[in-house]
Amino acid sequence: MTTLQEYLKECGAADSLSALILLIAEQAVPIREAFISNQNYADSKNSSGETQAEMDTWSDTHITNTLAASGLVREVASEERDEIVHLVESAPYSVVMDPLDGSSLIKVNLCVGTIVGIYEGSSLQAGKNLKAAFYMLYGPMTTVTVSVGKGVAIFALDKDGVYKMLKNNVRIPEGNLYGSGGIRTEWLEKHAKFISRIENEGAKNRYSGSFVADFHQILTYGGVYAYPPSEKQPNGKLRLVFEANPIGFLAAQAGGAISNGVSSTLEIVPEKIHQRTPIYVGSRGMISKIESIE
Ligand code: AHG
Ligand code: MN
Ligand code: MN
Repeated sequence: MTTLQEYLKECGAADSLSALILLIAEQAVPIREAFISNQNYADSKNSSGETQAEMDTWSDTHITNTLAASGLVREVASEERDEIVHLVESAPYSVVMDPLDGSSLIKVNLCVGTIVGIYEGSSLQAGKNLKAAFYMLYGPMTTVTVSVGKGVAIFALDKDGVYKMLKNNVRIPEGNLYGSGGIRTEWLEKHAKFISRIENEGAKNRYSGSFVADFHQILTYGGVYAYPPSEKQPNGKLRLVFEANPIGFLAAQAGGAISNGVSSTLEIVPEKIHQRTPIYVGSRGMISKIESIE
């Protein structure tokens, strides 16, 4: 079975980019080992005003320290840090990350993950400029789902700690699953119309509370994940830089799409690292449906 390292070489990824992807992906092992002793919430909040889980800060610190030691990274923009961390000015890449996505599920041992995007140059760029996007999933298997702009492949960590290919050229089927965040009674009319339309067409609800795990289900079976705008949160809950862009890049590379309900979020140049965006991500049919509703 092809390893992650061999795949990246076959894709023509630069050696330094491959080294960085492998270095981050390998942190899945210490991150998984840290769960048992980091089950609680810290007494701190992140820039999005959310109380941080111990695993949020543990993973953030661990990955950032690993990146600092690599000498390959210019900036790190993390969901769990107010400001961008400046490392090696002359280094080729910047990393954006959600070190632990789905934190509310840590206590209930459901699938959570780490979302990463890598840019050449600075970290505040449109998602379409990503050189690599991937996420580690801490489920029954430890997997990495990755793209370096040549499609999407999925790898699983074997007993020797090597990522072996599970699937190559992943394509999002049309599908009929949907997962939507927010509170139904607070959905705006456009979103409520969209959900009732796809439910009338037979769509089934699959929503766990972990974006990365819910997206992986959509990547596999098709359908859509949505975190819509509401009166209280007109830009929804999820972050453009750390969540929407890497996942949206992967979705587009798998023949799907991402949207804020009007147009692709991959075109947006971020103004602030923690800015939020409404998210609809999944199969093309679902995205054109939401974009066609006024
Ligand atoms: P994070 O744990 O990185 O803050 O992300 C949580 C996000 C996303 O993973 C998930 O889909 C969504 O928040 C769940 O929000 P609700 O609890 O409001 O459904
Ligand atoms: Mn998240
Ligand atoms: Mn997070």
